[in-house]
Amino acid sequence: MHSELLRRRTFGIVSHPDAGKTTLTEKLLLFGGAIQIAGAVKAKKASRHATSDFMEIEKQRGISVATSVMGFEYRDTKINLLDTPGHKDFCEDTYRTLTAVDSVIMVIDAAKGVEAQTYKLLEVCQMRRTPVMTFMNKMDRETREPIELLDEVEEKLGMTVCPMSWPIGSGKLFKGVYNLYDNTLILFKAHHNLKNLEDVIAVKDLQDPVLDRVLGELQANQLREDVALVKGVYPAFDLDAYLSGRVTPVFFGSALNNFGVKELLDFFIQKAPSPLPRETTAGMVDPKDPAFSGFIFKIHANIDPRHRDRVAFLRICSGMFDRQKKVHHVRLKRDMKIANPTAFMAQDKEIVDTAYPGDIIGIHDTGNFKIGDTLSSGESFYFKGIPSFSPEIFRVCVNTNPLKLKQLQKGLEQLCEEGVAQLFTTVLDQRRIVGVVGALQFEVIQYRLEHEYGAQCRFDALNFAKACWLESSDFQTLEAFVKDRKSQMATDKEGRYVYLAETRWSLEREIRENPKISFLSTSESHA
Ligand code: G4P
Repeated sequence: MHSELLRRRTFGIVSHPDAGKTTLTEKLLLFGGAIQIAGAVKAKKASRHATSDFMEIEKQRGISVATSVMGFEYRDTKINLLDTPGHKDFCEDTYRTLTAVDSVIMVIDAAKGVEAQTYKLLEVCQMRRTPVMTFMNKMDRETREPIELLDEVEEKLGMTVCPMSWPIGSGKLFKGVYNLYDNTLILFKAHHNLKNLEDVIAVKDLQDPVLDRVLGELQANQLREDVALVKGVYPAFDLDAYLSGRVTPVFFGSALNNFGVKELLDFFIQKAPSPLPRETTAGMVDPKDPAFSGFIFKIHANIDPRHRDRVAFLRICSGMFDRQKKVHHVRLKRDMKIANPTAFMAQDKEIVDTAYPGDIIGIHDTGNFKIGDTLSSGESFYFKGIPSFSPEIFRVCVNTNPLKLKQLQKGLEQLCEEGVAQLFTTVLDQRRIVGVVGALQFEVIQYRLEHEYGAQCRFDALNFAKACWLESSDFQTLEAFVKDRKSQMATDKEGRYVYLAETRWSLEREIRENPKISFLSTSESHA
């Protein structure tokens, strides 16, 4: 069990759309020998580009369940790559997936730098002190200056950067990278397959004339200057600082050309953490603990009426999962057998008999699970750190079929439990507000309400940009704040106060002017 634990790496890729996440995923899967699924990843992406209609995306759901978790083996390491949807399908699931990983790889388009979605996802990583490796992608194109890119990561994302390699030129002049740790020069060649990957040249030191020979005098001298500067400015790689999320090692490459990907992957399996202890309401749970435990971080509902099934995704945190043994569902206070647990190996979904911490299994669900549920071997506790994330798009739900009010209420509540959206009630007039992270969710909700619950509704736009949960040790201050801003106050499903900010700017002003109140962008039931 201990060796199974140590050889597992469970991670996600965070990036802004079009930075190269899908391309990098495919190359990683190629290294893992998982050729077939690479096609599936592309197919999913193709459907996303081909149409803006969510039903078309839904048609691909079979694929998207399969690519939600991609397990593969590489050099005796079991790697679980969790998908973080980022295009039109960006939603709270994307954030929540980050609660189930042990580390992330951040992909940045080197021509663009840190973009909005990367920033949002990194906020969640920082909150959890998740270790981050950075891949500066698309070096085969004209890019921004490497130093400028690194500065931007430090400034915008609040991490210290530690370049592991240094690029030589970019675009048409891109010659390759110089590995700052083992003094090798890796020459760039455009490659789409795994054969003859890179030309690696060992260099004695930076004065080695081989540099002038292969790079030309101009670029060789530039490299000498750059490396001297970089070594003076950036700290040497410090494993503990990386593991605590303070420092991010940075690689430069081109996913499309399979350049720099192998270096990244080799470094990743050596340095990225295996499953770590996790905090629960009953103290820390160690992955080495023989007692089985795990939590549900995502529920995927298939809306095709012919296959209206749900899959609950369980992240195993300790002990061994054994299909033959019953598990304890903490919230429902009962033991249950999991009939057909599936593992997500890259080639296919398959029934799993045993699984270990770090692994994700899919459980066929008929409505027993909610996000954040714990399964254990008998103990009663909840995992901390699986919060609701603050929505950014809000609409009022208006019932358009008075005969189906009950169905609408039930449907909305159940869909929110599944994690599709969050439901708030305004303090002033008790209106039901639905908040989501990605706009596509409204179409999904409307469709599902109609087809699964027979209810019809309309969503009217609201002018709010962010919801924040309010907390204060000073009860009177909090009550006074709520009273003064009644038109912007709502309560969540558990009756907690939520402030609906009209703009990010007005939120910042309120934060400044109300130092006794905490404005939280996440809320936890089991804090
Ligand atoms: P995403 O999942 O993060 O959204 O990005 P994706 O991998 O789909 O990449 C977005 C576009 O960038 C794709 O081009 C892809 O081929 C390209 N790309 C990815 N990595 C590199 C790289 O290292 N160098 C260059 N030059 N391009 C790269 P596309 O035209 O949108 O799609 P496709 O027709 O190539 O699939």
